[in-house]
Amino acid sequence: MLRGGRGSLLWAAAWLGFGFHIADASAKSVQGDIELALKQQFEISTYKLLDNISPKGTLPGTVIAAPSRAEPDYFFHWTRDGSLVMSTFLDLENPALISHVRDFALLSEIHQSHWTPAGLGEPKYLVNGEPFTGDWGRPQNDGPALRAITLIRYARQLIDAGEMDWVTKHLYASGLPAKTVIKKDLEYVSHHWMDTDFDPWEEIRGHHFFNRILQRRALKEGAKLARALNDPAAANWYDLQAKRLGKELERHWDARRGYIVSTVDRDGGIDYKLSGIDTSVILGVLYSQDAQDPFFDIHDDRVLSTAEVILSTFRHLYNLNHVQPSLGVGIGRYPEDRYDGYRTDRSGNPWFLITAAFADFHYALAKKWVDQGAIIVTPENRKFFNSLILSSPTHAQLQYWSYLKAGSIEFKTLVQATLEAGDDYMRRVMFHLDTDGSMSEQFNRDTGFMQGAPNLTWSHAAFLRATKSRGSLIRSLK
Ligand code: NOJ
Ligand code: NOJ
Repeated sequence: MLRGGRGSLLWAAAWLGFGFHIADASAKSVQGDIELALKQQFEISTYKLLDNISPKGTLPGTVIAAPSRAEPDYFFHWTRDGSLVMSTFLDLENPALISHVRDFALLSEIHQSHWTPAGLGEPKYLVNGEPFTGDWGRPQNDGPALRAITLIRYARQLIDAGEMDWVTKHLYASGLPAKTVIKKDLEYVSHHWMDTDFDPWEEIRGHHFFNRILQRRALKEGAKLARALNDPAAANWYDLQAKRLGKELERHWDARRGYIVSTVDRDGGIDYKLSGIDTSVILGVLYSQDAQDPFFDIHDDRVLSTAEVILSTFRHLYNLNHVQPSLGVGIGRYPEDRYDGYRTDRSGNPWFLITAAFADFHYALAKKWVDQGAIIVTPENRKFFNSLILSSPTHAQLQYWSYLKAGSIEFKTLVQATLEAGDDYMRRVMFHLDTDGSMSEQFNRDTGFMQGAPNLTWSHAAFLRATKSRGSLIRSLK
């Protein structure tokens, strides 16, 4: 049932940074406990996740969104979920996991070979590789972008490992019409980013920050790969489209409201998303990070301001956040959400994958500051910092800081507070898990009990990603 074997996980402990402690930090006495808890859940999540990869009766490379076949039926391969899970496998650098990426690439070839109602923007496939053709919110053009991002990373690894033939046979070869997986996705994205499509929550049609920031990243990475593989005209074309997307993305920043609005130009789907506050914006930032090409970077003022608005919105929205204020805030998709994991005429709940992504966001943010050696407090991001250290005795001082240099007490305090904020989100996640480490899609906003699809693959992947991100931060603090 489980692939990989326990032994293959031994690599994880040291690599994830467990056991290291932060110098000079007024470390919470529970830091040791959280590391143990994270380590245990890391192993469990790895096995639960592997249960959902190519399970019996499915084609190799299939990532079922969750094992449930009814209420809700998640026994399908979504291009979005599948690509994100595979990208996490690449992050983890575990050979036992990476072997699944090859299956995924070959399955993607099959998916792309079928006629579908929405072309490559088809959101989900049956486990026999055929497209799901029933009623659905389509196209979802984040899918081909995420798949390209993931497979470009994989192609680079293969090239480094001397597997160029496999890359040009399956992943990227110049020439049109495109014959390889990445090239097909890049052609699709570069010709369709201007169309309206459905958002990652599959509900509203328009232009979405999430879809577009990932499309931009796919094209940027695609251009680099094309250049490396002797396809310069294509590289220029992808770069040009990425540049145009960059301009479009600026339209999502609403300076008056102080946040990045998730959807503009709505022309279909649900009509009750009035605020435009949506955590998919933060997910988009997180999944599109690239140190070589900072764009809506994780520490961009506009991103921090958006994160703060999201945080205060969800803190107030869900009862459970009042009942246990010491745990991190449980965070859902967007405030007007009506999907409770089964039906869409109720009220939304906090999600595991999103709460874990907020932990991830905080770890990555602190890492960014450590790497750049300073924190700059500006009028736009000051609120974010203030809410971060709300409970800290140094709170009153922050108003006066603006350029905090690495090594200063203020810098250390903020980095430590950001790490702790990340840990609080992870504690929230672990608090609502089942005793056996199962993690569904949502946890109830009032009672805290899990609901929606059980053992959602993406939930486990988000947990792994966040834990790994914490490890990188801790190692950078040594
Ligand atoms: C299932 C989708 O995956 C979910 O995001 C959506 O809210 C409901 N269907 C309603 O469209
Ligand atoms: C519903 C989520 O809204 C969507 O993002 C996801 O792709 C599907 N469920 C499958 O997990």
